[in-house]
Amino acid sequence: MSFDLVLFGGTGDLAWRKLMPALFQAFRHGTLPEGGRIIGIARDDLGDAQYRELIRSRFDDVELAKRPTPEEFDRFAGLLHFLRLDLSQPQDYRRLADMLRERHAETVVMYLATAPDLFTTVCQQIAAAGLNRPNTRLVLEKPLGHDLESNREINETVRSVLSERQIFRIDHYLGKPAVQNLFAMRFGNALFEPVWRREHISNIQITIAEDLGVEKRGAFYDKTGALRDMVQNHALQLLCALAMEPPINAHADAIRDEKLKVLRSLHPWTPETIDQHVVRGQYGAGTANRQSVRGYRDEPGVDPESRTETFVALRTGISSWRWAGVPFYIRTGKRLISREAQIVVNYRQAPHAIYNAPAGSWNRLVINLQPRDGLQLHLLALGQENRRNGQSLAPVHLDLDFDKRFGSERVGAYERLLLDVIAGRLNLFVRSDEQEAAWRWVEPIMEHWAADERGPRPYAAGTWGPSASSAMIARDGLCWSEEC
Ligand code: BG6
Repeated sequence: MSFDLVLFGGTGDLAWRKLMPALFQAFRHGTLPEGGRIIGIARDDLGDAQYRELIRSRFDDVELAKRPTPEEFDRFAGLLHFLRLDLSQPQDYRRLADMLRERHAETVVMYLATAPDLFTTVCQQIAAAGLNRPNTRLVLEKPLGHDLESNREINETVRSVLSERQIFRIDHYLGKPAVQNLFAMRFGNALFEPVWRREHISNIQITIAEDLGVEKRGAFYDKTGALRDMVQNHALQLLCALAMEPPINAHADAIRDEKLKVLRSLHPWTPETIDQHVVRGQYGAGTANRQSVRGYRDEPGVDPESRTETFVALRTGISSWRWAGVPFYIRTGKRLISREAQIVVNYRQAPHAIYNAPAGSWNRLVINLQPRDGLQLHLLALGQENRRNGQSLAPVHLDLDFDKRFGSERVGAYERLLLDVIAGRLNLFVRSDEQEAAWRWVEPIMEHWAADERGPRPYAAGTWGPSASSAMIARDGLCWSEEC
């Protein structure tokens, strides 16, 4: 199947850090359909050869399971082209149209890896140049807006030029192998479904911890914050994958209908519940990887008086027969103790004890998203001590390491998503109504914080965030998984 992939923001950070390596991996694995062109678009004055050189030089700094040999890169580079284009100039889009006409590829993917405030302009210009054809697919990177209203505006413009089935809104967490395995675990096995409910599950914790700070994105991040950057999208998508009802089939809309129901059933916020159940923090100076690091307000591009949160912990719930009364905790932040993304499903205590057992509930399913990708099932079993102490139970766990089991060169998130766009598979992309429901849910928190003089709570870089996060969960008689 021939394709043209037009990459707006072709010299930008996302292009060389994530998209080009992902395309290269697909090329190396032989899964990128043959007969494709990748056309980088930017305002820079480059020719094809210079663009290929630029990408080659950047490849030295990116994470790849295996470095490309020069011959391998040359073969990949043969797919790369460059077109200089000023996003506000209609004649430049006409040149793009001419370039695309040379080939008449079966699929044309327009990937907007640009600042989101340019999405509307680019979409309008694409339409004005007649590039919104039935074979066009448009990929939109997050953040799609800054709040519900700006999100709606973007979605309305995009939908006025293309139909929903041509629009691919990326949430790269949905492309992560662990998240796909979560779907597979829940909907490909009969084992979990009967115990995947309030009668058996006591609480669920979602943690996305990063050890890095804001790096070079201070100016962007300072206008965004952790709630918009991580909770509104990635964390809520994980929550949907955990809490959704089994879809009637694996088609995109069947899955997205179920995720939407979850988003619409989340407990709504009041000023009181926000104060009680949502903690915001901001990192101060501390240590990361045994090195001293500066605090957030001293990061380049950040306002020295900034009140932007770099950490959020919250407790919510879902109003449904399956989940009534089960707390869902979400926690995410920058400059935390380590890079670790994990979902912990805590089961209730056994109803009646016939053995000596350590106090508390020990059954727990842990889904690791990163740094490794796997599943652990924590159980109690009779250990060595029972010779001396009689029938005592001890904690043990079953460990399934997907990297070991399936090899570490598995399809990465962006590789998976790019291949899906080219093939027209929408399952792992977010529909506009899901996005709106997510914005509608976080907006009261954003508004409450904007009016609240207290600002975020400080925490030292290299910790698990402000102590208020542990205090919040402790009020429910629980603790974060690393604390107990
Ligand atoms: C992005 C956020 O969407 O996800 C970043 O904008 C964050 O701030 C990143 O660092 C985390 O992604 P991953 O895949 O490294 O966990």
